[in-house]
Amino acid sequence: MLSLKVSDLSIPELHNYLQYAIAPRPICFASTIDKAGNINLSPFSFFNLFSTNPPVCVFSPSRRVRDNTTKHSLENLHEVPECVINIVNYAMVQQVSLASVEYPKSINEFIKSGFTMLPSELVKPPRVAESPVQFECVVNEIKSLGNTPGAGNLVIAEIKLMHINEAILDADGKIDQEKIDHVARLGGDWYCRVTPDNLFKVAKPVKTVGIGVDAIPFAIRNSKILTGNNLGQLGNVETLPADVEIEAYAQLPEIKDVLDATFGDASTRETQLHLKAKQLLDAGKVAEAWKLLLL
Ligand SMILES: Cc1cc2nc3c(=O)[nH]c(=O)nc-3n(C[C@H](O)[C@H](O)[C@H](O)COP(=O)(O)O)c2cc1C
Repeated sequence: MLSLKVSDLSIPELHNYLQYAIAPRPICFASTIDKAGNINLSPFSFFNLFSTNPPVCVFSPSRRVRDNTTKHSLENLHEVPECVINIVNYAMVQQVSLASVEYPKSINEFIKSGFTMLPSELVKPPRVAESPVQFECVVNEIKSLGNTPGAGNLVIAEIKLMHINEAILDADGKIDQEKIDHVARLGGDWYCRVTPDNLFKVAKPVKTVGIGVDAIPFAIRNSKILTGNNLGQLGNVETLPADVEIEAYAQLPEIKDVLDATFGDASTRETQLHLKAKQLLDAGKVAEAWKLLLL
């Protein structure tokens, strides 16, 4: 492992390691306004949701590394503590990047980047019409993290009103994860797109208390075939199958075939069973995998 002391690194080096490692990051496309009515639109990937009740997001316009100046968005928020957080999808990403150009304060990046201003209902900054989800927010607090180049400023923004494009909803009126087409920021110029083919589900251990990896029998836990993900799935069950279930499972023709073919050869049998269990686990069939592994 390469171990790096933060104090030995230059700010650009530190920035590089942090941005590549802490990724992907969602993008807050924030519209703000100053007291004189100048509108600003800028992306921030130092951004996330931090509370549901109250609904609070935080994003961070940092001090410029180049000259330690503060960003227009931050200055606007000190003057008018309101913003719209517009969620970014793939169709928007090139224009979003264009909006990050350091235009003078008087320049409206809606116009520069070619996005459409939509009046907000509760706050002064306009929304981005093209964005699939727009959050009208009031800023409760701005917390400075320092006065040196690269120091962040946490903008603690409470969501007051949400606008969601019906095109991304499912039949129940909820956001369809496959339709929103998110993009996120990684290190350097890298972005990623959330497409249906790279989405997957992981069962939430909220209602159940899994037995834990430490309770999995040694031979299974130390398998050369099962992966850490497979052990996580196996450790997430509350109880192991009963002997009668295992015995019934052993009578299935395809299982009987494996057992007969490996009779007297414990090592080959274990390999065969673990390979089959891995296939089942990768297909999400955890209960069945357990019966096979306990044969
Ligand atoms: C996708 C993306 C994410 C960004 N994230 C941040 C961020 O989290 N913090 C930051 O200070 N700058 C970030 N930037 C750079 C700002 O958007 C850029 O400095 C912008 O010009 C600030 O505009 P302003 O001075 O008008 O507020 C990001 C740029 C892009 C393209």
